[in-house]
Order: sequence, then structure tokens, then C-alpha cells
Amino acid sequence: MIHLKSVDLKKEKMESLVIPVCEDKNVFEDKIIISLIRKAKKIKEFKGGKDDEVIFYNLSEVQAERVILIGLGKFEKIDIETLRAAAGKAVKELIKKKLSNVLIAIPPAKKINMEMTSLLAAMLEGAYLGNHVFDKYKKEKKHTPIKKINFLVKPDETRKYSRLSSRIKTICQGTILAREWVSTPSNDKRPEHFSRSIVSLARKENLKVTVLGEKELKQKKFGAIMAVAAGSQSKPRMVILEHNPKRSKGAVVLVGKGVTFDSGGINLKSSAGLTEMKLDMSGAASVAATLITAAKLKSKFRVVGILPIVENMVSGNASRPGDIIKSYDGKTVEIGNTDAEGRLILIDAISYGIKKYKPRTLIDMATLTGACIVALGEKIAGTFSFDDKLAEDIILSGQKTHERCWRLPMPEEYKELLKSDFADLNNMSSTRYGGAITAALFLSEFVKDTRWAHIDIAGPAYAKKESSYCGAGGTGFGVRLLCDLLDKL
Ligand code: BES
Ligand code: ZN
Ligand code: ZN
Repeated sequence: MIHLKSVDLKKEKMESLVIPVCEDKNVFEDKIIISLIRKAKKIKEFKGGKDDEVIFYNLSEVQAERVILIGLGKFEKIDIETLRAAAGKAVKELIKKKLSNVLIAIPPAKKINMEMTSLLAAMLEGAYLGNHVFDKYKKEKKHTPIKKINFLVKPDETRKYSRLSSRIKTICQGTILAREWVSTPSNDKRPEHFSRSIVSLARKENLKVTVLGEKELKQKKFGAIMAVAAGSQSKPRMVILEHNPKRSKGAVVLVGKGVTFDSGGINLKSSAGLTEMKLDMSGAASVAATLITAAKLKSKFRVVGILPIVENMVSGNASRPGDIIKSYDGKTVEIGNTDAEGRLILIDAISYGIKKYKPRTLIDMATLTGACIVALGEKIAGTFSFDDKLAEDIILSGQKTHERCWRLPMPEEYKELLKSDFADLNNMSSTRYGGAITAALFLSEFVKDTRWAHIDIAGPAYAKKESSYCGAGGTGFGVRLLCDLLDKL
């Protein structure tokens, strides 16, 4: 539980008090907090530098059993993410110390040139997300989340920011839901299972749910989805979630890649390439969690989530390199490489979304290419759109949420690289360079004149190591980004 609380530090008993400290400037106004910072700065090894820390026990100034001062670094360099990370790190440390309640002080927004709403939102996010532990598969549960986290605010602020606080909580729950789906091993989220899990949570939030099973997918001629699913014992699904508020005009469609395991198919991945391929449904996880979150938040806008869910496996029934399939849209595609399966399931979902919902805007999110990780590293998503305003809106939401997005180009002449001698298109580029771009261009062949963006989250969807407010595994990247973005579209 996280709350905003106004207390008298001299009187209020608590296990721990956390104070974020700026290295070269005092920003607090509270006299007790100022005196505690002064005390800490007398200690040689504590300067308030980034990641510096000092703990005092049983001080006479306050009732807290321990006071933890954590450094934020130099004033000039402090931004919203510094505070999000500081709150997350503090919570994670307290979990490791097996503590159960904490009060976190907030630097006065004006003094650090920030808006209180964004400062508070970021610190709440850091605390919520840092308090998540994924230990479902461990017999011994070493780390228990902190039961009570309070943020110290002024008396009139508890009510003033209570709506903001509950919105952040709901969005962080969405992020955590996506994280858990992604971290779940592929043997526990085969397509039937993963879609059932989405459906049951979506129904609870009164989303309209439609599931197309194998028979309907075949009947309706989703040739590309069927081709990718062919090698797996587990049958494909297409889950459609609709948030339909009254009096809303035009829909925004979100499409998420849901490959529950990507072996590469007959173009089998190498051993190194196979590790972590449970992450390949991260796009679907983030889109599903975003819809569930939009429903909980009673968003005023109509949003539809389309999730093609398959497992890309090798078997006697698997699609072969060189096979030609007919997509839902009618275009034929030569499967140049069975490991380029994401773009195949996406084109069928995109075509269906456009035909059925005639959306104002369509955004797809997918762990689409290793090439995007080569281009932008593991923390930043590639963003593609022909629409400057849409690209700009995505990038701004990325800055705000620190789910960073960077726009990459889609030059017309690169379309040459996707030509096939026998079919309308090849799913594999004829060069090994610019793979994130050619993948986006492949998708672009199916978007018609719909305002569209593609977000390649192959890098940031998954973290090998823990960081300040995220553990190792699924990061839930995209949920906070899309929730922020939806209000702008
Ligand atoms: N799921 C992968 C992309 C990926 C790679 C995501 C690493 C996360 C981490 C995708 O289906 C894939 O295999 N793409 C190929 C495309 C190639 C065959 C054209 C790739 O990136 O190598
Ligand atoms: Zn693949
Ligand atoms: Zn894939």
C-alpha cells in the first residue's frame, strides 16, 4: 500500500525515514529534515553524490527507528528520472533489509524547478515499480514487498493529489501485470493459456472480449498467422479487447506481437539467440495491460487491442523457407526466413484492425528485430511513422515516462529490398543491414492510408539485470508510454 501522508516527524513512529539529498544545494524547507541532512554531510563518505548513502539509527530528532539519506547527485543534473530511480532504489534496499514500512520525504518541487504533479508521479512510480518482486517460481521467497510506503506531503496535499496517486497506482499495476506475463516461462504461457489469462483479467474490467480460435482464423483466411503457428502443437489465437466508453468517436487500435516462444522455426535460432525468447510476446503483454488499465481508469476514448498469439516452433508441419502464403489482406508473401515471424502475424492483425475498426490511429508494439537493439541499444525503442505529429507525440510520452523512443526513417527506396521473384513481398530483406527499418517498411505495406506508428521494443522489453525500479526479466515497457499517449491521440 502506498499513501500520501502528512505527519509530525518528531512524534510519528516508523521503521524508516528516507530522505533524498542533493549534493551541492539544500532544497528542503522542513527544519528537521535540514538538520538531518546537515548531520549526514558531516560524515566524510557521504556527500549526497549519486548513490551515496548513510543510515542513522535511533536519532533523538525523530521517532523513526532509522533515517536513510540517499544521494541524488548535483543539483543541475537532477531530473524526474533521478527521483523516480531514487524512490525505486530506496524501496528495493528496504526490501533487501526485510523492512515493512517506510516514509519517504519529497524535495519541494519548486526548489528543484519541477511541477509537483510530475515530481510526485515519478516518485510514486519508482516506489510502486521498485516494490514488485517476481518470485512465483521460487520455493523460498527471500524478498517480500514492503507493506506500507508513505510519502511525506503537506496537510492539504493528501487530498489534492489523491486522484493522481490512484491513477499512478493503476498504471503501475498494469506495468507489473505486463512484467509478470513476460517473465513467465514459455511452458506456462502457450497461446491457449496466455490468451485465457488475458481474457479472464479483461472480462473483470468489463472490456468487450472476442477470441478467434484456430478454426475461425483459418476460415477468415488469416494466412500469415496460420503459417507461423503451423509448427506448434499449441493452437493460435487472436484476442481482441475493446474499451468502448459512451459518446466516443473513432477508435485507436493497438496491435501487440504475441509470440509466446520464438525458436526461429526452421531457420532455427542459435543457442545464444534462443535464450530469453519467452520475451517475444512483450508487445501483446503491454497492449493487453494497457487496455485493462484504460478500462480501470475509465478512459473517455475508444481503444481496441488486437493480439495475435502464436508459438514459433520447429516440426514436420512447420512452414519452410521459400513457402508462399496469402495474408489476410490478400497480398502473397514469400517466407524468406521463418525467424521473421513477428511481421507475419502483425500484418494479419493490422489488416484486420483497419478493416474492422477503421481506426483514427493504429499503433503496433513488437519485439520485432535484433537489428533495432544493434541500432539503439537495450534501453531505447525504435519508433517509425510517416506522421510527424504522431511520432513526436510518442517521443514526448517516452521522455515523460522514461520509456524512451527514438524515431528511425522509412526511406521509400529501401522497399526494393523486400521484393520477391515469386510473391508480392518477401518477409526477409535482401541485405543484412538496416533490419529494423526493413521490418517497419514490410509492415507499412499493409497500413493503407491509416495514421500508423510502429514501436520496436526488442531492446527495452526485457532486462538481463535489475535496475533501480525494475527487477531482471520483463520490464513492462510500453504500458506507461501508451497510457500517457492515449490521452493525446
Ligand atoms: N523475436 C525476434 C527479435 C528479437 C531478437 C527480439 C532479440 C528480442 C531480442 C524476431 O522474431 C527475429 O527473430 N527477428 C530476426 C529477423 C531476421 C530473420 C530478418 C532478427 O532480428 O534477427
Ligand atoms: Zn523470430
Ligand atoms: Zn520474434
